[in-house]
Amino acid sequence: MGQTLPKPALRPFLAADTPILAAIFIAAIEELAADDYSEAQREAWASAADDEEQFARRLASELTLIATLQNSPVGFASLKGADRLDMLYVHPSATGQGAASVLCDALEKLAGGRGAKSLTVDASDNAEGFFLKRGYVAKQRNTVAVNGEWLANTTMQKSLASDAPKGATQ
Ligand SMILES: CC(C)(COP(=O)(O)OP(=O)(O)OC[C@H]1O[C@@H](n2cnc3c(N)ncnc32)[C@H](O)[C@@H]1OP(=O)(O)O)[C@@H](O)C(=O)NCCC(=O)NCCS
Repeated sequence: MGQTLPKPALRPFLAADTPILAAIFIAAIEELAADDYSEAQREAWASAADDEEQFARRLASELTLIATLQNSPVGFASLKGADRLDMLYVHPSATGQGAASVLCDALEKLAGGRGAKSLTVDASDNAEGFFLKRGYVAKQRNTVAVNGEWLANTTMQKSLASDAPKGATQ
């Protein structure tokens, strides 16, 4: 019979998390983006985690949150500056359990807290449906060079304007 699945929890990134986040990043790209990107394109995209020190610097330079299930990291997302969602990756074994939603809910609030009026993401083609569902609007189609390969993505934006009057408590 139906069991209630636990909701993913959130915690901040620590340097020691780098290897597991690199593994999540690579597995998410290899397995979840295969319908939209060729093997060569996915390899080029995933190569951003080859140099773990460089990957750790990127994670630490942004506001990176980790989603956990039973205390194990299953996904992560990062906010660059006030208004760019840079990374959002969930391990293929943990998709469909709300990890990306919990991560985006938190980063959208934090972006608002940093004064952003909107949040922008360069969404991969396989993730476009996820962002559309959350109210992001496609603004522009891009083709970017990544480690010798050309990859398409779409710049999408969500307005963070709140309906609540200023000073209202929630
Ligand atoms: C896109 C991704 C982050 C979604 O992670 P997830 O944890 O499975 O997402 P959630 O469980 O929070 O899904 C929330 C909702 O979005 C829907 N959804 C999830 N992925 C979707 C997709 N690729 N397309 C359309 N809808 C999607 C879910 O069905 C769910 O709908 P519901 O609320 O009606 O049940 C994950 O598939 C991933 O890591 N993809 C590969 C990496 C990538 O492309 N990242 C984005 C870089 S910009």
